[in-house]
Amino acid sequence: MPASSNSPMHICLSAACSIDGYMDDTSNQRLILSSDEDLLDIQRERSLCDAILVGAGTLRADNPRLSIREPPLVDARLRNGLPAQPIKITLTATGNLDPNGQFFQQGTQEKIVLCPTGVVTSLKSRLDGWATVIGIDAPITARRIAHVLQERGVRHLFVEGGVLVLSLFLSEGIFDRFRLAIAPFFVGEKGISRFQLQHALVANRQERLSIGSVRLLGDTTVIDYLHSRGRQTTRHDFETVSDTPVSSIVETNV
Ligand SMILES: NC(=O)c1ccc[n+]([C@@H]2O[C@H](COP(=O)([O-])OP(=O)(O)OC[C@H]3O[C@@H](n4cnc5c(N)ncnc54)[C@H](OP(=O)(O)O)[C@@H]3O)[C@@H](O)[C@H]2O)c1
Repeated sequence: MPASSNSPMHICLSAACSIDGYMDDTSNQRLILSSDEDLLDIQRERSLCDAILVGAGTLRADNPRLSIREPPLVDARLRNGLPAQPIKITLTATGNLDPNGQFFQQGTQEKIVLCPTGVVTSLKSRLDGWATVIGIDAPITARRIAHVLQERGVRHLFVEGGVLVLSLFLSEGIFDRFRLAIAPFFVGEKGISRFQLQHALVANRQERLSIGSVRLLGDTTVIDYLHSRGRQTTRHDFETVSDTPVSSIVETNV
């Protein structure tokens, strides 16, 4: 494990949406919202974390690999004493996961499935050793997920979706940074998937997030919102792993 469980965990949420706020459309194909430059920056974000979390819905919809593909970024991790790839983590209530999906089959890094304690046994049998299955007492909240992962030594968690999982963390206010990429087009009536926020952030509109930076990556605008969770962090606080340059970035700190 990459860090001691005593270190405070940094949680970055990442989402991309259209101008009208949609994170996907109704087609069977994945909606590409990010520019190439933004996708490269996401690779850099992955290279800075200990673990990447997505919900089971994203695994079923997109079958993502969740790996770092850029060799210089992998090399930088190794130089800094980190494993080549971050741990992959997913979350399910039903256990409806395909062990043949890329999440499980691609890469040798550890894969973790978080689920209610009641489905641990059946899920272990279904996954047949392809992942570590960890039960969490219901209700599974972002706070409980963070606690479990911190106990396992995760120091920097990168949450890449999808809608329900991001909504969980946003609603509870369990994040330090929210990286929002806005694509320069509308999805319109074919749009699906918007945040479903409950609890804290919606209930308290006085709690305005601060903006760490606004960047133009290709044609995609990336805003880093900062959330204090009782302490001050900036986008750059944890950027110690890699100084690999990412081309075509125009950055405006505000
Ligand atoms: N634009 C973006 O940035 C972005 C990023 C990622 C994904 N997406 C899109 O988002 C869509 C998928 O969204 P989604 O909301 O279905 O996916 P999701 O948030 O990745 O996964 C939702 C699933 O996670 C599990 N889950 C969530 N909260 C839970 C909890 N508290 N306890 C236990 N399990 C929990 C459940 O799995 P089970 O159903 O297995 O119980 C739930 O159905 C896709 O269209 C994908 O393309 C967009």
